[in-house]
Amino acid sequence: MSIATRLRTLFPSSSRNGNRPPLLEGAQPLVGHILPFQKDPVQLMFDGKRRYGNVFSIHLVGTTAAVLLGAEGNEAVFRAPDDQLNPKEAYKLMTPIFGKGIAYDATDDTMREQLSFLHPALHKKRLEIYAAHMNEEAERYVDSLGDEGVVDILDMGNELTMYISSRCLLGMEFRDQLNTQFMRLYQDLEGGLTPLAFFFPYLPIPRFKRRDAARRKVVELIEGIVENRRRRGFVGEDMLQTLMEARYKKDGRPLTADEITGLLLTIVFAGHHTSGVLTAWSGIEMLRHKEYLPAILAEQEEVYGDGREVSFSSLRELNVLERGIMEAERMHPPIVLMMRKVLRDFHYAGYTIPAGDMVMVSPAVSNRDETIFSNPHVYDPQRFAPGREENKKHDFSMTSFGGGKHLCIGLNFAYMQIKALWSVMFRRFELELASPQYEPSYDFLVVGPHHPCLLKYKRRKEALVRVPRPLAESRIH
Ligand code: HEM
Repeated sequence: MSIATRLRTLFPSSSRNGNRPPLLEGAQPLVGHILPFQKDPVQLMFDGKRRYGNVFSIHLVGTTAAVLLGAEGNEAVFRAPDDQLNPKEAYKLMTPIFGKGIAYDATDDTMREQLSFLHPALHKKRLEIYAAHMNEEAERYVDSLGDEGVVDILDMGNELTMYISSRCLLGMEFRDQLNTQFMRLYQDLEGGLTPLAFFFPYLPIPRFKRRDAARRKVVELIEGIVENRRRRGFVGEDMLQTLMEARYKKDGRPLTADEITGLLLTIVFAGHHTSGVLTAWSGIEMLRHKEYLPAILAEQEEVYGDGREVSFSSLRELNVLERGIMEAERMHPPIVLMMRKVLRDFHYAGYTIPAGDMVMVSPAVSNRDETIFSNPHVYDPQRFAPGREENKKHDFSMTSFGGGKHLCIGLNFAYMQIKALWSVMFRRFELELASPQYEPSYDFLVVGPHHPCLLKYKRRKEALVRVPRPLAESRIH
């Protein structure tokens, strides 16, 4: 980096911004916008949008990031090739957890191939099997709650989604015998996710040592399970089994225990808190808007009233519930922003974002674009109903699950587990929110409600009342 460029990023000024999008006012020398960004990045982006519209720049400690908002901005970023806008930089703090040469640390082609190994485990046939597990886990969890009480809705989401991940992804050995041990190791792995890990991921500090020891232990556990399954000829119906059977195209080589572990951890980290957080926001919004509840309950009765099994297809039929969750997803995307590193100059809306800068998109802001969504700050699940379907105005109108080639591969899995949990909760309990407010917390990468976020529950004595409901297409396909 030239001295002039370094000075420009350390002492930001709009007059030195080149042909970049306009620099948001308020950047401080050396740190730029980092303080408001850390405190509330969504507010910072709404401020930029109010002042400059959908394209502007911010400074983050020596780095310039162009912020592209709205469906067009999303499309431009998600459609750009990886050799121009690259996601790896943003995820490099995950390398010590996922492992060297795994996912974002691998070459683009290898990462593609590794992620393709996961696909068979998320196909419809497997989802059929997971649906039963998800329902069983939800019932088991609900039983553990007793007849009435108060529970933290975010803890509930995180706990249940971890049980489901252990069962469907890591394998029944983890769910049945190794769960407590794995939870402890998982906490140590998560403990390594600090801002310091972006810059010095292998510093010999206790946190990082615990993270590395935990990873070694998980590799050992998985190695043991793989050997045991092979010896007994046991074939599991989980992601672990899928990875045991995967082979690299080039030389037919199977994955090592280290690679299997890395990919399982990739999938667990990608899907756990994100699903836990969306579980929480969905419950909060559905219970904040009780006028929507009768239709949800009627749908439960209609689909399950005759004792029908919870399955992939019955969960798909829960369109009213799905719209309730989707609207929570629109308003509270668990991942509020996504970053890309510019490897080749990127041209957008008459501006040039030079190589070396970052580009950022934000579902939290774009999902509330008033040119796509009417009254975007109002919770209105019917905006997705037939006849309205506001999200279909543009392919990139809602990007809580990303877009383009990096589109989340776990969308159906995530929706199924959230639907399974709320179905059981609504069928079994009368529910009421019990905290004065539910505000987003930006302390973590995945944005959930601030603790405490309490939910009061009381077991139902009487059957649910039948109420007519509107019908719509399901988004799960
Ligand atoms: C509510 C739950 C979830 C949300 C909000 C979510 C969100 C996202 C987003 C925004 C991306 C794109 C990241 C980027 O482009 O930088 C992504 C990618 C990914 N997600 Fe999810 N996710 C969820 C659940 C899951 C689940 C359950 C799994 C696995 C079972 C999963 C696996 C992945 C993987 C492997 C990628 C990387 C795809 C790629 O780069 O090709 N996610 N997710």
